[in-house]
Amino acid sequence: MRILFLCTAHNSLSQKLFLALSENHSVTVEYALSDEAMIEAAALAKPQLIVCPFLTARVPSDVYENYVTLIVHPGPPGDAGPSALDWLLVGDDGTEPDADRLLRRDLLSAVGRSHWGVTVLQAIGELDAGQVWAFDQFPVDINEAGLTKSKLYRGPVTRAAVSATLAAVARIESAAKVDPSELSGAPRSPPDSPAPDRRFSAEGGGGIRPGLRASESFAELSVTSAEPFRGGDTHVRPLLKAGERDFDPTRHDAATVSRRIRSADSQPGCLSAVFGPKLYLYGGTIEDSVTASPSHGFAPGCITDIRDEAVCIGTCDDRGVWITHVRRLKTKADSSLWPKVPAVSGLVELGVLPPVSPPHLPMVLGRSLPEDWSRSVPGTFQEIWVDMVVGGSGRLAYVYFDFYNGAMSTAQCRRLVRCLGDVLATTEQRPLDAVILMGGDSYFSNGIHLNVIEAASDPSLESWYNINAINDVVDMVLDKFAARGVPTVAALRGNCAAGGVALAAACDLVLAGEQVVLNPAYRALGLFGSEFHSLSYPGRCGDAAAASALRAMTPLNADGARRLGLVDHVLPGFGSALDAALRSHVESVFASDRPHVEATAAVGRWKRRLDLSAPALARARAEELAQMSMDFWSARSERYHGRRRDFVRKMKPTATPLRFASHRRAEGMLDEEERDSFDSIQWFAEKSARSATEDVPPQTATGMAALSLAETNHVASRHLFGCYYPC
Ligand code: COA
Repeated sequence: MRILFLCTAHNSLSQKLFLALSENHSVTVEYALSDEAMIEAAALAKPQLIVCPFLTARVPSDVYENYVTLIVHPGPPGDAGPSALDWLLVGDDGTEPDADRLLRRDLLSAVGRSHWGVTVLQAIGELDAGQVWAFDQFPVDINEAGLTKSKLYRGPVTRAAVSATLAAVARIESAAKVDPSELSGAPRSPPDSPAPDRRFSAEGGGGIRPGLRASESFAELSVTSAEPFRGGDTHVRPLLKAGERDFDPTRHDAATVSRRIRSADSQPGCLSAVFGPKLYLYGGTIEDSVTASPSHGFAPGCITDIRDEAVCIGTCDDRGVWITHVRRLKTKADSSLWPKVPAVSGLVELGVLPPVSPPHLPMVLGRSLPEDWSRSVPGTFQEIWVDMVVGGSGRLAYVYFDFYNGAMSTAQCRRLVRCLGDVLATTEQRPLDAVILMGGDSYFSNGIHLNVIEAASDPSLESWYNINAINDVVDMVLDKFAARGVPTVAALRGNCAAGGVALAAACDLVLAGEQVVLNPAYRALGLFGSEFHSLSYPGRCGDAAAASALRAMTPLNADGARRLGLVDHVLPGFGSALDAALRSHVESVFASDRPHVEATAAVGRWKRRLDLSAPALARARAEELAQMSMDFWSARSERYHGRRRDFVRKMKPTATPLRFASHRRAEGMLDEEERDSFDSIQWFAEKSARSATEDVPPQTATGMAALSLAETNHVASRHLFGCYYPC
């Protein structure tokens, strides 16, 4: 079928769904920027079906009255409203129908529901009230350590959305076949016709009219288990505002505070004045060791600990909760959102913390993590740890780096380099069979930390420090471990982008979970890219394929990345099943008496025809950094500084990129970032000169401290999450 996506952003869920549907259908994407844009997109695309995988706006009646339009709602049948996952995680178990009473009387459950779901329903005038074409469900534990709203969204919600949407599309196709009067236009292809061209074209089979009837059983039995919804009663719930999940550490225990924060992470954040000024808070990992008792000199709500860039606040049950990030409130004077920044730098900037390093702060306990990088017990906030598995002939070092949103700041990269250096140093005593980069379970890595850069007083300089620091991580992989004969493996359990893909590609072996999505290009953010990708991408994929992946700026699923060469093996499953499959694969290759021959042959294969000597690596690094320095400081830097600012501050785009919106692309039409001129310093210099004569203010990179109305009044004030940040 010809399918049109209408979405607020082409995010991880819509990318995953796009890739899944594209196997059998042709799909084109339109950002839901306005009613007019959505109506126009439908007229241009002439879709047989419209799917809205992630939509915060209403679909105009002109659209849903003329096309079958499916909304992917992150809640089970009967649930409705814009904050479905927020209500789930904050402890709404469905027993209280009145949302107001639920909050005012604090009737939220400490245990929550056992299951949650995703429904694919047809758009009608009333929100989330159309007929259900499919739903799926999954078990959930709202007290699971580290389970934030966005982690839930990227994991079980995305999986359920894909299974339910695939089922809904198949059901609509077969319903339209049964009732051909609902089909209009040209007939569809016979079943034995050759494999169709999946590129989107507005020509072909006729549309399906919205009058099709869905079977009532679609709302009663979930797609995967064919069971009724097991998670309790569902209701229409209103928007859960950031301030409605505020907590009182003198009254709420650590588990409650954690749920309230996690229910709002990553948007909008839990609005709280626990640090003095009102701030959006993020994180929510519980500190299990006894912490905030008055006998230690701590009142609940005090900062009891600082680790790396996170702070721990004590709670009334003598435990604590880690806040990893904060965001300042947007006032009427601010033309865009403040960046979400690591808690310590955000609190120092506001004067809540003094600008001295944590060991010198008298008020903190200063508990440290195990010196050998092993996983801490009891549970606490820990971004990097090593699971050293000893057995058979030697050892395997599984290195985890679970960075928020997969973003790797200068400080985080330097800590990871220290950790890898310590792992390497152990080879002086005992051989190491392999080092396995595990990344995080939500993201493997998304490259340099654009938020920290955006908030820096000098974003260009911070970009430079950050790219050098991440290059040092990749250098450990490509040079230091290789020099000691230790093979390196990347185990992609979560998505990765840009420098994160390059970090993986530098390893001897890349294993990926079947559900992982990779975005190998840097260009969409206006960067040439570094991380030795100029060696690893062509080495793995060949020159032409590497160049086209960098130019295409489109997502790949794990299988697509394997066909291209960026991934060596794709493994089934997710979560603990995937972890077990990855470990078993690694052991069969590196720690078995009879290693798997084919799997072993893939190790380091891409390096065989390449010069990866120290001078060759130094040369590649210098050449990449020369380009990056132009991205940070030359006239061309406008492309990166502007795109980074828009990305971090969640600015609403002005148009859908043509590489996604095939229905808008006519012969010869290219996005700015698809053109050769996008690389030309002279082109940008001339553009800037033209702007000056036309009296258009140049784009400037603004640090966190510099965000004032006066300096940013040229920036459009529209941002993506208007319902959350209303000013
Ligand atoms: N630095 C800081 N934050 C990053 C990040 C980075 N490199 N990459 C992703 N994030 C954050 C997003 O800002 C978002 O934050 P939020 O949850 O606070 O809103 C979160 O990660 C999820 O990203 P989002 O884009 O909403 O969803 P996604 O999972 O669909 O990600 C990507 C898709 C990876 C394609 C997109 O995030 C991206 O282009 N990232 C930038 C990659 C990059 O260019 N890195 C720098 C060059 S090395």
